[in-house]
Amino acid sequence: MAEFNKAELIANDKKYVWHHLTNHKVFESQDPVIFVKGEGMYVTDVNGDKYLDAVSGGVWTVNLGYGCKPLVDAISSQLMELCYFANGYGNIPTIEFSKKLIGKMPGMSRVYLSNSGSEANEKAFKIVRQISKTKHNGKKEKILYRNRDYHGTTITTLSACGQEERRDQYGPYTPGFVEFAACSEYRSPYPADAPNVGELFALEMEKVIQKEDPGTVGAVIIEPITAGGGVIVPPAGYLEKISEICKKYRLLLIIDEVVCGLGRTGKWFGYQNFDVKPDIVTMAKGVAAGYAAISCTVTTEEVFQDFIVDTGDREGYFRDISTFGGCTAGPAAGLANLKYMEEHNVLDNVLKMGDYLMDGLKKLEKKYEIIGDVRGKGLFCGLELVKDRATKEPVPESVAGAVVAECMKQHVIIGKTSRCFHKYNNTLCLAPALITTEAELDKILQALDKAFQVVKA
Ligand SMILES: Cc1ncc(COP(=O)(O)O)c(C=O)c1O
Repeated sequence: MAEFNKAELIANDKKYVWHHLTNHKVFESQDPVIFVKGEGMYVTDVNGDKYLDAVSGGVWTVNLGYGCKPLVDAISSQLMELCYFANGYGNIPTIEFSKKLIGKMPGMSRVYLSNSGSEANEKAFKIVRQISKTKHNGKKEKILYRNRDYHGTTITTLSACGQEERRDQYGPYTPGFVEFAACSEYRSPYPADAPNVGELFALEMEKVIQKEDPGTVGAVIIEPITAGGGVIVPPAGYLEKISEICKKYRLLLIIDEVVCGLGRTGKWFGYQNFDVKPDIVTMAKGVAAGYAAISCTVTTEEVFQDFIVDTGDREGYFRDISTFGGCTAGPAAGLANLKYMEEHNVLDNVLKMGDYLMDGLKKLEKKYEIIGDVRGKGLFCGLELVKDRATKEPVPESVAGAVVAECMKQHVIIGKTSRCFHKYNNTLCLAPALITTEAELDKILQALDKAFQVVKA
């Protein structure tokens, strides 16, 4: 481990670093947690305390765990060959990574590189807007998004954000974004015995399209599983119906795979759990598993062909640029990630370990009244906490926070919905690395078990 002076590190962190989603007032009375080392599923802090990371780097990113040598080696040897050149020119890792990625996405055709999930979604929105200008006289420019979904932190991606507490302080927003209803089966407005609940939820989107005028709507953006909004898996038939409605009104279907992409749900992509054909797929976190900053906006050939215009004028190409889309570390790591996942049958492990984790969580649900709902897919699970199972009244965010803190005391890091909604910040989240084992999952489950003995609704 590298040498460091603990007191100096803490003092300098307090003095110079602005942490995200952090009330820095608390650092007047307590020290920040500073991690200095990661190995497999564990991170070690500045005090030498080791923590089991059940959320892959806090935000579901370090999918192959820490210290994964093939990824580190791929990056370092690529950086010695060619560290960067702007993406208007080609380079070997981008070509090889793009080819391999497209091989995992039947029906998709082109890969556009940038650096973050927000940026990948911004590119998708720009693609929709440019197509609206060039093909539809600027008329099909509205983009629909779903309540509880999140697509990024920039002003325009926040314009497409279905989580009001994230938006509260940053308006005015980009015009042309319209919300439709979330699809939480646990909080369904339909009778428990209603058939085709998935379709009913999807028809809420159609109502919005009709209200807005279908001629003005160009696209829909959706998470295959709502992630930060509470790990909401769509009901059967939902995404298929959404896709059908998109075809009916000639809307582009943008699937935001920033969280689910690259194996989190046990398929290469979350949407591949359903029978849907997206027009644009965005991805980020899992692409290089946290080893490099890379995101992708992937389109069908049809979308790409809308940008092939033989006029030589300014509409003849996508007027976009991403400086760091030309960093070769990202695609080198992305390629190594895909190879590692194939060679180690990572998707099989996700399915097996996902079942194991879900079994354990269902046992906890039987034991503790505070757990209103357990849901998820693959190694991505949510536990919605309630004051009362009958009324489903959510616990306050502080109660979910107390469970996270109890787990932390036992050196297990779990996550929760964090200041997203005025009332529903009540879901705990587990997303361990995709290479996790039963022994590690047992530790996570034991920590939760103990935490629920202490924390009451
Ligand atoms: C579904 C989804 N889309 C987009 C983003 C934004 O990604 P980034 O933070 O890399 O900009 C996130 C971030 O958590 C996300 O969960």
